[in-house]
Amino acid sequence: MNSHEMTLNPPWLANFYDPALFDAGAGDADSASTIAYYCRQLKGPACSVLDLGCGTGRLAFALLDDGHRVHGVDISAPMLGYLATKAEALKVDARERLSWTCGSVLDLPVGETFDVLVAADDFVTHFDLDELGRFLVMAGDALRPGGWLLTDMRERSPVRLAAAAGALPKPMQSYGLTGGILTATGPRYAAMMGWEEYDPHSRWLVSHQLYSFIDAQGREERRDWKTIRQRNHSNAEFIEAALQAGFAVEQAVGRGGDGQLGEQGGFFQLVRL
Ligand SMILES: C[S@@+](CC[C@H](N)C(=O)[O-])C[C@H]1O[C@@H](n2cnc3c(N)ncnc32)[C@H](O)[C@@H]1O
Repeated sequence: MNSHEMTLNPPWLANFYDPALFDAGAGDADSASTIAYYCRQLKGPACSVLDLGCGTGRLAFALLDDGHRVHGVDISAPMLGYLATKAEALKVDARERLSWTCGSVLDLPVGETFDVLVAADDFVTHFDLDELGRFLVMAGDALRPGGWLLTDMRERSPVRLAAAAGALPKPMQSYGLTGGILTATGPRYAAMMGWEEYDPHSRWLVSHQLYSFIDAQGREERRDWKTIRQRNHSNAEFIEAALQAGFAVEQAVGRGGDGQLGEQGGFFQLVRL
């Protein structure tokens, strides 16, 4: 089976996101700079925000801290369950500014318009090109005219993609040990490694990740294999889809220090025309 055929099989998204791992930043998460970007863009008067693929609420809680009103949508009940538990600790004022719905952003009737939509941490790579177009139309419908859609894609280097496109054996990525994983049997560490398959023609990237859960004595408790597929949209494809859906590009910057936008990946501020 080649990687293209693999990606045509049902995706494994439902089992991929583990809220405890995600919240602890295990794996290759680029949490801090991503969350900081969104908060920076939204500094200023409080506004109503729709957080698409809100997960455990990493960004939503930061936006509440800044005074915004946030409605989250996520397809994963476990991720939202984690968000709900964290919401119990919010002060009354912040709790009143937070709400959420479980479901796919592609299916939900929004029925309300927001000042700003956020879709953080590589969210749009969950979609194929057709779904990306549908997502952007839905996003436009949920925004007031002049409202922003802020989103980002991770940057994947040509070297990394070439290795992923190559034959086995290929490099195993290692992301070290993360602590503070809150599991049912107590706090755990997790070590993560993974390998990827990439089809440069379809731009599907399949990432196989092995998480090893380790207790305070350093003993391995269990292992979990997880697989996700993502479409590595080029920036040209993404921008074209945004224009087709009735957006203008207000800002598009690369994730590197110089802010240069490469072939793929970056931060995008779209405005609904
Ligand atoms: C990488 S996580 C990002 C979570 C959050 N935006 C953050 O930055 O902390 C992606 C999230 O998108 C959710 N997701 C994936 N496809 C979705 C869809 N079609 N509709 C709603 N949520 C989706 C996943 O369940 C997961 O919680």
